[in-house]
Amino acid sequence: AGRCVVAVDGPSGSGKSTVSRRLAAGIDARYLDTGAMYRAVTWAVLRSGVDLTDAESVAKVAAEADLRIGTDPQGYGVTVDGVSVDREIRGPEVTAAVSAVAAVPAVRALLVARQRELIEQAGRIVVEGRDIGPVVAPDADLKVYLTASAEARAQRRSAEDATDVAATAADLARRDRLDSTRKADPLQQAADAVVLDTTELGIDEVVDRLRSLLTERG
Ligand code: C5P
Repeated sequence: AGRCVVAVDGPSGSGKSTVSRRLAAGIDARYLDTGAMYRAVTWAVLRSGVDLTDAESVAKVAAEADLRIGTDPQGYGVTVDGVSVDREIRGPEVTAAVSAVAAVPAVRALLVARQRELIEQAGRIVVEGRDIGPVVAPDADLKVYLTASAEARAQRRSAEDATDVAATAADLARRDRLDSTRKADPLQQAADAVVLDTTELGIDEVVDRLRSLLTERG
């Protein structure tokens, strides 16, 4: 299997992670969760105690943290300075702070460069995030933008996290707003992306469609 880069963007709860992992496993590719990288940096920022609104200090913590992430679709691990943070980065503290940290241009520059290296190394990889098609991998072989209704997204997330649907809906709306309106690389659809609405489509159907698109494109 040769080089192949698939970019999967979309808001939280659109099915990105499940679709991207299954697609990667199905086409024998690596998988990169760029959201986990922003979450890991956020964990380091919270641990350091610096003020989240102090962009310069946030950027400094990001630059000094030794962040590592695996690319195995069946189970990748994230460490910061040798500490495994897989569980912590999904917690409410990190989730509440991540969009602020991800809005800092120097943090994005650092992580985008790291992501490009990981993509280069892997060669064959499915990459999920918010800005992959437009910014990180503009030459991707396939760009996908997943959407779903706000209700469907909140329902999926609250089922995953065992949290209240209304609270999850409010948190998703808040993060979507921050992610779409920030100045540096906002969540956006690449002009050449295939848009799929997962509200009605099942995960397997979405993965099948993406696989046929890849086959068609050779
Ligand atoms: O996908 P996930 O919910 O884990 O992403 C967490 C946060 O990281 C997003 O809400 C967004 O603020 C940020 N992010 C980003 N660019 C990416 C991936 C994630 O800004 N490529």
